[in-house]
Amino acid sequence: MKIRAAVLEQFGEPLEVQELDLAEPNAGEVLVRLVACGVCHTDLFTASGADPSGYSPAVLGHEGAGVVEAVGEGVSSVAPGDHVVTLFSPQCRECEHCRDPRTNLCLAIREQQGQGFLPDGTTRLSRDGEPIRHFMGTSTFAEHTVMPEIALANVSKEAPLDRTCLFACGLSTGLGAAMNTAKVEAGSTCVVFGAGMVGLGAVAGCRLQGAERIVCVDLSEDRLELARGQGATDTLAGGDGAVEQILELTGGFGADYTFEATGNVAVMRQAVEAARMGWGLATVCGVAGKGETLDVVPRYLITGRRVAGSSFGGVKGRDQVPQLVERWLAGDIDVEPFVSHTLTLDEVNRGFELMEAQDGIRSVIALD
Ligand SMILES: NC(=O)c1ccc[n+]([C@@H]2O[C@H](COP(=O)([O-])OP(=O)(O)OC[C@H]3O[C@@H](n4cnc5c(N)ncnc54)[C@H](O)[C@@H]3O)[C@@H](O)[C@H]2O)c1
Ligand SMILES: [Zn+2]
Ligand SMILES: [Zn+2]
Repeated sequence: MKIRAAVLEQFGEPLEVQELDLAEPNAGEVLVRLVACGVCHTDLFTASGADPSGYSPAVLGHEGAGVVEAVGEGVSSVAPGDHVVTLFSPQCRECEHCRDPRTNLCLAIREQQGQGFLPDGTTRLSRDGEPIRHFMGTSTFAEHTVMPEIALANVSKEAPLDRTCLFACGLSTGLGAAMNTAKVEAGSTCVVFGAGMVGLGAVAGCRLQGAERIVCVDLSEDRLELARGQGATDTLAGGDGAVEQILELTGGFGADYTFEATGNVAVMRQAVEAARMGWGLATVCGVAGKGETLDVVPRYLITGRRVAGSSFGGVKGRDQVPQLVERWLAGDIDVEPFVSHTLTLDEVNRGFELMEAQDGIRSVIALD
């Protein structure tokens, strides 16, 4: 079939919306009609050429939600008409990692996905017979996509897809960091550095876990206001003095749980130093620049602080994304404030500009 999609042709140049060919789903694959897709930093990171593992031409986009239109042979967990969230972090339910509760890093299709292919090593996307590569196994800046069954979460049909798409990346990452990776305990004190999509999700996750105190740190007063709306009890301006201020707020000890959601390695260090002696856990969500390292004075660790990393919030996507969507439908999560702009596919580059200007939390591309 013919589809319209936003193609990365040249790094550092605007994406080009073009007509492409999309082949039928093979065995184990699913054809999805996309309804909405959020614009996330990882798309921009790749489009800009900053990502050393990037490739082109490829169809970007990974924060997608849509409706199943057709399924290949052997597909049993979704059927035409089902509403799905796309998962750049799949869940095969069979590999060593999927069977272990300690991680969500499925091993099934990592290599092919990282190179822009579907699990059988080929692409369904092409242009005049020339293959066009997939991105993050999703390629959701498009009217339709073909994806592996193991990379689709089957979610409630009640959920409006133009909001549900946020659960495909940023929102689940933040919620999961608090709920899965850190497993915040009720009554605890938490600090979240960064109040973008991921940090605000972490604030909401801490609240859902019953944290008593949630301190959010950001450079933008507008974003701190959004953090209060998600349950932050205290807010602070970020910068050099942030750790001292957190120690003052916490009787000199620091927080039970800290979260870093900025991508800045100096802030990652602050998250470690603001964690409580004895048991404080610092969870790192941000993606640092190429070659950057996290500098930690070992004494912080010897005296009982721990550091954890979190990819997609430790969320096992097919099992847990539908549960997070249910919590939103039950009124536990307020998604509306995160959607700042609604764009058309042709305006995809505008989504990048808005992100660079920090104008709003998320732009969502409406695809139908
Ligand atoms: N681990 C994952 O699976 C995963 C998934 C999605 C995104 N990410 C990463 O998470 C990070 C956050 O993503 P986002 O979409 O929320 O980004 P964002 O840019 O919208 O938010 C980052 C926030 O950090 C704030 N900030 C910058 N410097 C600060 C400082 N010194 N102190 C306090 N706050 C500061 C900014 O004001 C901004 O509000 C990025 O690095 C992104 O690449 C990781
Ligand atoms: Zn993302
Ligand atoms: Zn797996």
